[in-house]
Amino acid sequence: MSRLAATHSGVERTLIGTKVEGALNDQIRKEFYSSYLYLSMGAYLSSLNLKGFAHWMKIQASEETKHGMKLYDHLNERGGRVILQQIDAPPSNWKSPKQIFQQAYQHEQKVTDSINKLVQLARSEKDNATENFLQWFVNEQVEEEATANEIAQKLQMIGENSPALIMLDAELGKRAP
Ligand SMILES: [Fe+2]
Ligand SMILES: [Fe+2]
Repeated sequence: MSRLAATHSGVERTLIGTKVEGALNDQIRKEFYSSYLYLSMGAYLSSLNLKGFAHWMKIQASEETKHGMKLYDHLNERGGRVILQQIDAPPSNWKSPKQIFQQAYQHEQKVTDSINKLVQLARSEKDNATENFLQWFVNEQVEEEATANEIAQKLQMIGENSPALIMLDAELGKRAP
């Protein structure tokens, strides 16, 4: 179903469909939740004095905010209504940096599923602009999953080796915004 808006010329113009609008609003919530989750992970890593890991998470959190804003702007541009949803509190404690990055990887896999469902919805609703817009997110998710998995794998190899953990901390601390 699509809503209609009268333009200045008096001609009615179709706005974004209500199903796609609802799903985009939900995706905005998920992106802001991702930002919240990574900020919480960053705070935990800071408490372990792993400043490089914490820095990496803060940058990741700001990337997620940008993703949320991309969707926010798209919805506005398409004549939809942004309705911000409640954001759940993220977990605040983990067992280890390895567990954090394993969870980050799993979280990104869930986000990928959500983006894929959104693409399928846009396609079935014949919303070509949204389907095309979402391709950026499809590509971004490939990178997001690969990066989180790579760090999780490194932490798996590092195990209890503190010098190696400190080296990885230094490497992640170099992440540019
Ligand atoms: Fe994202
Ligand atoms: Fe992400």
